Amino acid sequence: MILVTGGAGFIGSNFVLDWLAQSDEPILNLDKLTYAGNLENLCSLQNNPGHIFVQGDMGNDQLLGTLLVRHTPRAIVNFAAESHVDRSIHSPNDFVQTNIVSTFQLLETTRAYWNTLPTQAQKAFRFLHISTDEVYGSLDKDDPAFTEQHRYAPNSPYSASKAASDHLVRAAHHTYGLPTLTTHCSNNYGPYHFPEKLIPLMIVNALADKPLPVYGDGLQVRDWLYVKDHCSALRRVLHAGTPGQTYNIGGGNERTNIELVHTICTLLDKLHPKKDGQSYQTQIRFVTDRPGHDRRYAINAEKIERELGWKPAETFETGIRKTVQWYLDHSEWIEHVQTGSYRAWIEKHYTEPA
Ligand code: NAD
Ligand code: TYD
Repeated sequence: MILVTGGAGFIGSNFVLDWLAQSDEPILNLDKLTYAGNLENLCSLQNNPGHIFVQGDMGNDQLLGTLLVRHTPRAIVNFAAESHVDRSIHSPNDFVQTNIVSTFQLLETTRAYWNTLPTQAQKAFRFLHISTDEVYGSLDKDDPAFTEQHRYAPNSPYSASKAASDHLVRAAHHTYGLPTLTTHCSNNYGPYHFPEKLIPLMIVNALADKPLPVYGDGLQVRDWLYVKDHCSALRRVLHAGTPGQTYNIGGGNERTNIELVHTICTLLDKLHPKKDGQSYQTQIRFVTDRPGHDRRYAINAEKIERELGWKPAETFETGIRKTVQWYLDHSEWIEHVQTGSYRAWIEKHYTEPA
Protein backbone atom coordinates (compact mmCIF):
# COMPACT_ATOMS: atom_id res chain seq x y z
CA MET A 1 0.00 0.00 0.00
CA ILE A 2 0.95 3.64 -0.17
CA LEU A 3 0.55 6.33 2.49
CA VAL A 4 -0.54 9.85 1.61
CA THR A 5 -0.47 12.83 3.95
CA GLY A 6 -3.02 15.61 3.41
CA GLY A 7 -5.31 13.33 1.41
CA ALA A 8 -8.45 15.19 2.51
CA GLY A 9 -7.27 18.48 0.99
CA PHE A 10 -7.85 19.70 -2.55
CA ILE A 11 -5.09 17.94 -4.50
CA GLY A 12 -4.75 15.06 -2.02
CA SER A 13 -8.42 14.06 -2.23
CA ASN A 14 -8.33 14.20 -6.04
CA PHE A 15 -5.23 12.00 -5.90
CA VAL A 16 -6.86 9.46 -3.55
CA LEU A 17 -9.99 9.27 -5.73
CA ASP A 18 -7.95 8.86 -8.92
CA TRP A 19 -5.64 6.30 -7.35
CA LEU A 20 -8.45 4.04 -6.20
CA ALA A 21 -10.27 4.44 -9.52
CA GLN A 22 -7.22 3.05 -11.33
CA SER A 23 -5.56 0.63 -8.94
CA ASP A 24 -6.34 -2.07 -6.40
CA GLU A 25 -3.47 -0.96 -4.21
CA PRO A 26 -4.85 0.38 -0.90
CA ILE A 27 -4.15 3.87 0.32
CA LEU A 28 -3.59 4.97 3.91
CA ASN A 29 -4.63 8.59 4.25
CA LEU A 30 -3.15 10.55 7.19
CA ASP A 31 -4.69 14.00 7.49
CA LYS A 32 -4.89 16.40 10.40
CA LEU A 33 -8.17 17.84 9.09
CA THR A 34 -7.38 21.51 9.41
CA TYR A 35 -9.99 23.89 7.93
CA ALA A 36 -8.66 22.79 4.49
CA GLY A 37 -9.27 19.08 5.06
CA ASN A 38 -12.71 17.93 3.99
CA LEU A 39 -13.64 14.25 4.28
CA GLU A 40 -16.82 14.96 2.36
CA ASN A 41 -14.56 15.03 -0.74
CA LEU A 42 -14.03 11.31 -0.13
CA CYS A 43 -17.58 10.28 0.78
CA SER A 44 -17.78 8.06 -2.33
CA LEU A 45 -15.07 5.89 -0.70
CA GLN A 46 -16.99 5.35 2.51
CA ASN A 47 -17.48 1.62 1.90
CA ASN A 48 -14.23 1.10 0.02
CA PRO A 49 -11.84 -1.02 2.11
CA GLY A 50 -8.98 0.26 -0.07
CA HIS A 51 -9.19 3.66 1.67
CA ILE A 52 -8.03 3.78 5.28
CA PHE A 53 -8.38 7.19 6.85
CA VAL A 54 -6.57 8.29 10.00
CA GLN A 55 -6.94 11.75 11.49
CA GLY A 56 -3.58 12.95 12.78
CA ASP A 57 -0.55 15.16 12.35
CA MET A 58 2.23 13.94 10.06
CA GLY A 59 4.62 15.42 12.64
CA ASN A 60 3.36 13.07 15.37
CA ASP A 61 6.19 10.52 15.36
CA GLN A 62 4.45 8.06 17.68
CA LEU A 63 1.30 7.93 15.58
CA LEU A 64 3.15 7.80 12.27
CA GLY A 65 5.67 5.27 13.56
CA THR A 66 2.84 2.96 14.63
CA LEU A 67 1.07 3.35 11.29
CA LEU A 68 4.24 2.60 9.33
CA VAL A 69 4.95 -0.57 11.30
CA ARG A 70 1.32 -1.69 11.06
CA HIS A 71 0.77 -1.00 7.35
CA THR A 72 4.34 -1.16 5.85
CA PRO A 73 3.71 1.22 2.92
CA ARG A 74 6.04 1.01 -0.07
CA ALA A 75 5.78 4.75 -0.64
CA ILE A 76 4.76 8.01 1.02
CA VAL A 77 3.25 10.89 -0.95
CA ASN A 78 3.42 14.11 1.03
CA PHE A 79 0.65 16.58 0.18
CA ALA A 80 0.08 17.89 3.71
CA ALA A 81 0.82 21.60 4.08
CA GLU A 82 -0.59 24.99 4.84
CA SER A 83 -1.13 26.16 1.29
CA HIS A 84 -2.72 29.61 1.08
CA VAL A 85 -0.43 32.60 0.42
CA ASP A 86 -2.87 35.17 1.88
CA ARG A 87 -3.14 33.21 5.14
CA SER A 88 0.67 32.95 5.28
CA ILE A 89 0.87 36.74 5.17
CA HIS A 90 -1.50 37.08 8.14
CA SER A 91 -0.28 34.13 10.26
CA PRO A 92 3.07 32.74 9.10
CA ASN A 93 3.56 30.70 12.30
CA ASP A 94 1.30 27.88 11.15
CA PHE A 95 3.28 27.67 7.91
CA VAL A 96 6.59 27.32 9.71
CA GLN A 97 5.12 24.73 12.05
CA THR A 98 3.43 22.57 9.42
CA ASN A 99 5.52 23.03 6.30
CA ILE A 100 8.92 23.01 7.99
CA VAL A 101 8.74 21.41 11.45
CA SER A 102 6.11 18.74 10.76
CA THR A 103 7.64 17.89 7.37
CA PHE A 104 11.01 17.48 9.07
CA GLN A 105 9.44 15.17 11.65
CA LEU A 106 7.71 13.21 8.88
CA LEU A 107 11.09 12.73 7.19
CA GLU A 108 12.73 11.62 10.42
CA THR A 109 10.02 9.05 11.21
CA THR A 110 10.05 7.84 7.61
CA ARG A 111 13.83 7.44 7.71
CA ALA A 112 13.67 5.42 10.94
CA TYR A 113 11.09 3.10 9.32
CA TRP A 114 13.01 2.91 6.03
CA ASN A 115 16.17 1.86 7.92
CA THR A 116 14.35 -1.21 9.24
CA LEU A 117 13.31 -2.46 5.77
CA PRO A 118 15.10 -5.32 4.00
CA THR A 119 17.51 -4.14 1.27
CA GLN A 120 15.18 -4.76 -1.69
CA ALA A 121 12.30 -2.94 0.01
CA GLN A 122 14.64 -0.05 0.89
CA LYS A 123 15.64 0.26 -2.76
CA ALA A 124 12.04 0.17 -3.97
CA PHE A 125 10.76 2.65 -1.33
CA ARG A 126 9.84 6.20 -2.46
CA PHE A 127 9.16 9.44 -0.59
CA LEU A 128 7.38 11.80 -3.01
CA HIS A 129 7.27 15.40 -1.81
CA ILE A 130 4.79 17.78 -3.44
CA SER A 131 6.31 21.23 -3.74
CA THR A 132 5.36 24.30 -5.73
CA ASP A 133 6.68 26.54 -8.51
CA GLU A 134 6.43 29.43 -6.01
CA VAL A 135 9.81 28.45 -4.46
CA TYR A 136 11.44 29.79 -7.65
CA GLY A 137 10.11 33.32 -7.01
CA SER A 138 8.64 35.72 -9.54
CA LEU A 139 9.32 36.04 -13.30
CA ASP A 140 9.31 39.17 -15.43
CA LYS A 141 7.07 39.26 -18.48
CA ASP A 142 9.65 37.99 -21.00
CA ASP A 143 11.72 35.70 -18.75
CA PRO A 144 11.91 32.03 -19.76
CA ALA A 145 9.72 29.66 -17.73
CA PHE A 146 11.13 27.97 -14.60
CA THR A 147 13.26 24.89 -15.22
CA GLU A 148 14.32 22.52 -12.43
CA GLN A 149 17.67 24.39 -12.38
CA HIS A 150 16.10 27.76 -11.55
CA ARG A 151 17.51 29.29 -8.38
CA TYR A 152 15.31 29.31 -5.28
CA ALA A 153 13.96 32.80 -4.50
CA PRO A 154 10.77 32.42 -2.42
CA ASN A 155 8.97 35.67 -1.66
CA SER A 156 6.06 34.83 0.67
CA PRO A 157 6.04 33.07 4.04
CA TYR A 158 4.21 30.23 2.25
CA SER A 159 6.82 29.77 -0.48
CA ALA A 160 9.70 30.27 1.98
CA SER A 161 8.33 27.49 4.19
CA LYS A 162 7.87 25.20 1.18
CA ALA A 163 11.43 25.97 0.05
CA ALA A 164 12.71 25.01 3.51
CA SER A 165 10.87 21.69 3.35
CA ASP A 166 12.30 21.01 -0.13
CA HIS A 167 15.81 21.50 1.25
CA LEU A 168 15.12 19.08 4.10
CA VAL A 169 13.89 16.48 1.59
CA ARG A 170 16.96 17.04 -0.55
CA ALA A 171 19.20 16.64 2.50
CA ALA A 172 17.45 13.40 3.52
CA HIS A 173 18.39 11.98 0.12
CA HIS A 174 21.95 13.28 -0.05
CA THR A 175 22.88 12.57 3.56
CA TYR A 176 20.99 9.38 4.36
CA GLY A 177 20.14 7.95 0.94
CA LEU A 178 16.34 8.12 1.46
CA PRO A 179 14.88 7.60 -2.05
CA THR A 180 13.08 10.94 -2.40
CA LEU A 181 11.37 12.57 -5.37
CA THR A 182 10.28 16.22 -5.42
CA THR A 183 7.77 17.79 -7.79
CA HIS A 184 7.12 21.48 -8.46
CA CYS A 185 3.69 22.10 -9.90
CA SER A 186 2.02 25.30 -11.02
CA ASN A 187 -1.38 26.52 -9.80
CA ASN A 188 -3.89 23.66 -9.76
CA TYR A 189 -7.62 23.99 -10.40
CA GLY A 190 -10.58 21.60 -10.55
CA PRO A 191 -13.11 19.86 -8.27
CA TYR A 192 -12.98 20.14 -4.45
CA HIS A 193 -10.91 23.35 -4.49
CA PHE A 194 -11.51 25.30 -1.28
CA PRO A 195 -13.14 28.65 -2.13
CA GLU A 196 -10.38 30.81 -0.68
CA LYS A 197 -8.26 30.38 -3.84
CA LEU A 198 -8.83 32.44 -6.97
CA ILE A 199 -10.85 30.13 -9.26
CA PRO A 200 -13.33 28.62 -6.77
CA LEU A 201 -13.68 31.96 -4.96
CA MET A 202 -14.69 33.69 -8.21
CA ILE A 203 -17.22 30.99 -9.12
CA VAL A 204 -18.74 30.83 -5.65
CA ASN A 205 -18.90 34.62 -5.22
CA ALA A 206 -20.35 35.09 -8.70
CA LEU A 207 -23.16 32.63 -7.94
CA ALA A 208 -23.83 34.31 -4.57
CA ASP A 209 -24.07 37.75 -6.21
CA LYS A 210 -21.00 38.93 -4.28
CA PRO A 211 -18.08 41.08 -5.52
CA LEU A 212 -15.28 39.35 -7.48
CA PRO A 213 -12.15 40.82 -5.83
CA VAL A 214 -9.21 41.18 -8.27
CA TYR A 215 -5.95 42.15 -6.56
CA GLY A 216 -4.06 45.20 -7.92
CA ASP A 217 -4.20 45.59 -11.70
CA GLY A 218 -5.14 41.93 -12.27
CA LEU A 219 -2.24 41.50 -14.69
CA GLN A 220 -0.34 38.94 -12.58
CA VAL A 221 0.19 35.71 -14.50
CA ARG A 222 -0.33 32.15 -13.25
CA ASP A 223 0.20 28.91 -15.21
CA TRP A 224 -2.87 26.71 -14.67
CA LEU A 225 -2.79 22.92 -14.28
CA TYR A 226 -5.94 20.80 -14.15
CA VAL A 227 -5.77 18.81 -10.91
CA LYS A 228 -6.40 15.42 -12.55
CA ASP A 229 -3.49 16.03 -14.92
CA HIS A 230 -1.39 16.78 -11.86
CA CYS A 231 -2.48 13.45 -10.32
CA SER A 232 -1.51 11.52 -13.45
CA ALA A 233 1.91 13.23 -13.43
CA LEU A 234 2.42 12.25 -9.78
CA ARG A 235 1.55 8.62 -10.50
CA ARG A 236 4.10 8.70 -13.31
CA VAL A 237 6.83 10.25 -11.12
CA LEU A 238 6.15 7.74 -8.35
CA HIS A 239 6.38 4.87 -10.83
CA ALA A 240 9.33 5.93 -12.97
CA GLY A 241 11.05 8.96 -11.40
CA THR A 242 14.72 8.71 -10.42
CA PRO A 243 15.38 9.06 -6.67
CA GLY A 244 17.00 12.35 -5.76
CA GLN A 245 15.53 14.10 -8.82
CA THR A 246 13.07 16.99 -9.03
CA TYR A 247 10.38 17.33 -11.71
CA ASN A 248 8.39 20.39 -12.79
CA ILE A 249 4.71 19.79 -13.61
CA GLY A 250 2.72 22.41 -15.51
CA GLY A 251 -0.26 22.76 -17.77
CA GLY A 252 1.32 25.25 -20.19
CA ASN A 253 -1.56 27.65 -19.61
CA GLU A 254 -0.36 31.12 -18.68
CA ARG A 255 -3.22 33.53 -18.07
CA THR A 256 -3.47 36.92 -16.39
CA ASN A 257 -5.83 36.90 -13.44
CA ILE A 258 -8.20 39.35 -15.06
CA GLU A 259 -8.32 37.27 -18.27
CA LEU A 260 -9.14 34.22 -16.16
CA VAL A 261 -11.90 36.00 -14.24
CA HIS A 262 -13.41 37.16 -17.55
CA THR A 263 -13.33 33.55 -18.82
CA ILE A 264 -15.15 32.32 -15.71
CA CYS A 265 -17.78 35.06 -16.05
CA THR A 266 -18.33 34.25 -19.74
CA LEU A 267 -18.78 30.55 -18.96
CA LEU A 268 -21.21 31.31 -16.14
CA ASP A 269 -23.12 33.72 -18.41
CA LYS A 270 -23.68 30.77 -20.76
CA LEU A 271 -24.16 27.92 -18.30
CA HIS A 272 -26.05 29.75 -15.54
CA PRO A 273 -27.21 33.22 -16.72
CA LYS A 274 -27.87 35.87 -14.07
CA LYS A 275 -31.56 36.47 -13.36
CA ASP A 276 -31.26 40.21 -14.12
CA GLY A 277 -29.86 39.47 -17.60
CA GLN A 278 -26.55 41.21 -16.88
CA SER A 279 -23.09 39.63 -17.19
CA TYR A 280 -21.27 38.32 -14.10
CA GLN A 281 -18.50 40.72 -15.18
CA THR A 282 -20.49 43.52 -13.54
CA GLN A 283 -19.48 41.98 -10.18
CA ILE A 284 -15.70 42.42 -10.80
CA ARG A 285 -14.00 44.80 -8.34
CA PHE A 286 -10.33 45.82 -8.33
CA VAL A 287 -9.12 45.77 -4.71
CA THR A 288 -5.88 46.55 -2.83
CA ASP A 289 -3.03 44.34 -3.98
CA ARG A 290 -1.56 41.48 -1.92
CA PRO A 291 1.74 42.58 -0.26
CA GLY A 292 4.80 41.14 -2.03
CA HIS A 293 2.55 39.80 -4.81
CA ASP A 294 4.58 37.65 -7.27
CA ARG A 295 4.02 38.95 -10.78
CA ARG A 296 4.37 35.84 -12.90
CA TYR A 297 4.87 32.08 -12.59
CA ALA A 298 5.49 29.83 -15.60
CA ILE A 299 6.60 26.21 -15.65
CA ASN A 300 8.89 24.56 -18.16
CA ALA A 301 7.70 20.93 -18.01
CA GLU A 302 10.02 19.53 -20.72
CA LYS A 303 11.91 17.25 -18.33
CA ILE A 304 8.91 15.21 -17.20
CA GLU A 305 7.70 14.98 -20.79
CA ARG A 306 11.12 13.93 -22.11
CA GLU A 307 12.12 11.54 -19.33
CA LEU A 308 8.80 10.13 -18.14
CA GLY A 309 6.55 10.68 -21.15
CA TRP A 310 3.93 12.72 -19.26
CA LYS A 311 1.79 15.42 -20.86
CA PRO A 312 -1.42 17.10 -19.63
CA ALA A 313 -4.63 15.76 -21.16
CA GLU A 314 -6.75 18.89 -20.65
CA THR A 315 -6.42 22.23 -22.41
CA PHE A 316 -7.28 25.24 -20.29
CA GLU A 317 -10.55 25.64 -22.16
CA THR A 318 -11.73 22.07 -21.46
CA GLY A 319 -10.46 22.11 -17.86
CA ILE A 320 -12.04 25.40 -16.85
CA ARG A 321 -15.37 24.44 -18.43
CA LYS A 322 -15.40 21.14 -16.48
CA THR A 323 -14.49 23.03 -13.31
CA VAL A 324 -17.24 25.64 -13.62
CA GLN A 325 -19.73 22.87 -14.40
CA TRP A 326 -18.53 20.87 -11.37
CA TYR A 327 -19.26 23.82 -9.05
CA LEU A 328 -22.67 24.33 -10.66
CA ASP A 329 -23.44 20.65 -10.05
CA HIS A 330 -22.21 20.63 -6.43
CA SER A 331 -24.13 23.39 -4.67
CA GLU A 332 -24.44 21.23 -1.56
CA TRP A 333 -20.66 20.83 -1.31
CA ILE A 334 -20.28 24.62 -1.62
CA GLU A 335 -22.94 25.20 1.01
CA HIS A 336 -21.31 22.78 3.46
CA VAL A 337 -17.93 24.42 2.99
CA GLN A 338 -19.37 27.90 3.44
CA THR A 339 -21.44 27.10 6.51
CA GLY A 340 -18.71 24.92 8.02
CA SER A 341 -21.12 21.98 8.19
CA TYR A 342 -18.54 19.76 6.42
CA ARG A 343 -16.96 19.55 9.89
CA ALA A 344 -20.15 18.02 11.29
CA TRP A 345 -20.01 15.48 8.47
CA ILE A 346 -16.53 14.50 9.67
CA GLU A 347 -17.72 14.05 13.25
CA LYS A 348 -20.65 11.92 12.11
CA HIS A 349 -18.74 9.63 9.75
CA TYR A 350 -15.22 9.54 11.14
CA THR A 351 -14.68 6.31 13.06
CA GLU A 352 -11.24 4.85 12.28
CA PRO A 353 -9.12 5.07 15.45
CA ALA A 354 -5.43 5.93 15.12
P1 NAD B 1 -4.91 22.06 0.89
O1 NAD B 1 -4.64 23.24 1.76
O2 NAD B 1 -6.19 21.99 0.13
O3 NAD B 1 -4.81 20.70 1.74
C1 NAD B 1 -3.83 20.48 2.69
C2 NAD B 1 -4.24 19.24 3.49
O4 NAD B 1 -3.19 18.95 4.44
C3 NAD B 1 -5.53 19.44 4.31
O5 NAD B 1 -6.37 18.32 4.14
C4 NAD B 1 -5.03 19.54 5.75
O6 NAD B 1 -5.96 19.07 6.70
C5 NAD B 1 -3.79 18.66 5.69
N1 NAD B 1 -2.78 18.98 6.73
C6 NAD B 1 -2.32 20.20 7.10
N2 NAD B 1 -1.39 20.08 8.05
C7 NAD B 1 -1.24 18.75 8.29
C8 NAD B 1 -0.42 17.99 9.15
N3 NAD B 1 0.45 18.58 9.98
N4 NAD B 1 -0.53 16.65 9.14
C9 NAD B 1 -1.41 16.03 8.32
N5 NAD B 1 -2.23 16.70 7.48
C10 NAD B 1 -2.14 18.04 7.47
O7 NAD B 1 -3.66 21.99 -0.09
P2 NAD B 1 -3.61 21.56 -1.62
O8 NAD B 1 -4.00 22.72 -2.46
O9 NAD B 1 -4.31 20.27 -1.80
O10 NAD B 1 -2.05 21.36 -1.80
C11 NAD B 1 -1.43 20.09 -1.56
C12 NAD B 1 0.07 20.26 -1.71
O11 NAD B 1 0.38 20.76 -3.02
C13 NAD B 1 0.67 21.26 -0.72
O12 NAD B 1 1.91 20.75 -0.27
C14 NAD B 1 0.88 22.52 -1.54
O13 NAD B 1 1.97 23.28 -1.07
C15 NAD B 1 1.18 21.93 -2.92
N6 NAD B 1 0.80 22.80 -4.05
C16 NAD B 1 -0.49 23.19 -4.22
C17 NAD B 1 -0.83 23.98 -5.32
C18 NAD B 1 -2.24 24.40 -5.60
O14 NAD B 1 -2.48 25.06 -6.61
N7 NAD B 1 -3.21 24.04 -4.77
C19 NAD B 1 0.17 24.39 -6.23
C20 NAD B 1 1.48 23.99 -5.99
C21 NAD B 1 1.79 23.18 -4.92
P1 TYD C 1 -4.26 32.02 -5.29
O1 TYD C 1 -5.38 31.18 -5.81
O2 TYD C 1 -4.31 32.47 -3.87
O3 TYD C 1 -2.92 31.22 -5.60
P2 TYD C 1 -1.35 31.72 -5.50
O4 TYD C 1 -1.29 32.98 -4.73
O5 TYD C 1 -0.74 30.56 -4.78
O6 TYD C 1 -0.89 31.85 -6.92
O7 TYD C 1 -4.15 33.30 -6.21
C1 TYD C 1 -3.97 33.19 -7.61
C2 TYD C 1 -3.79 34.58 -8.16
O8 TYD C 1 -5.03 35.29 -8.01
C3 TYD C 1 -2.76 35.42 -7.41
O9 TYD C 1 -2.08 36.25 -8.35
C4 TYD C 1 -3.58 36.26 -6.45
C5 TYD C 1 -4.88 36.49 -7.22
N1 TYD C 1 -6.11 36.61 -6.42
C6 TYD C 1 -6.97 37.68 -6.65
O10 TYD C 1 -6.72 38.55 -7.51
N2 TYD C 1 -8.12 37.78 -5.91
C7 TYD C 1 -8.42 36.86 -4.95
O11 TYD C 1 -9.48 37.00 -4.28
C8 TYD C 1 -7.54 35.75 -4.73
C9 TYD C 1 -7.84 34.71 -3.68
C10 TYD C 1 -6.39 35.67 -5.51
